[in-house]
Amino acid sequence: MPKKAIYPGSFDPITNGHLDIIERAAQIFDEVIVAVLHNDAKQHLFPVEQRMEILRAALQHIPNAVLQTFDGLLADFAEASGTNLVIRGLRVVSDFDYEFQITLTNRQLKPDLETVFLMTDAKYSFLSSSVVRQIASFRGNIEQLVPPASAAALKNKFGSR
Ligand code: PNS
Repeated sequence: MPKKAIYPGSFDPITNGHLDIIERAAQIFDEVIVAVLHNDAKQHLFPVEQRMEILRAALQHIPNAVLQTFDGLLADFAEASGTNLVIRGLRVVSDFDYEFQITLTNRQLKPDLETVFLMTDAKYSFLSSSVVRQIASFRGNIEQLVPPASAAALKNKFGSR
């Protein structure tokens, strides 16, 4: 049976760190569902449609990456998608607390849900969507940090020097 895994996140917007994880996951699994959370309590910079549009452009070169949105519980989405595999990226030790909490919460909800952790390349260990949003909001250079589609959307929102 083909191995399918879900890579969930907010992707507000996708960074090169996310892309690195998706590329690694796509080598391991037959299908990687990149699942964009919407309707959560967080205030997002980009609406879900725009986050999806950016992702679509950024993932063009990965044929086994499939884009979807979800709301509600990840455990339910996994059930509906017919997989029990979730991928999360780890950058630094400080990520662990949060990841530990969400992994065990998901396991509580769906005991057979397995979370597979992939480590990002060290050069992305400082990188997050919030860091990128902050730099862009001050019109700093984010070209090296995000795929071109994210950079274009951020420049469009905040302007560039
Ligand atoms: O990119 P993020 O914001 O770190 O992703 C977090 C995400 C989307 C994976 C997490 O918030 C999530 O799965 N939310 C769905 C609601 C849910 O299932 N909650 C229970 C586990 S915390």
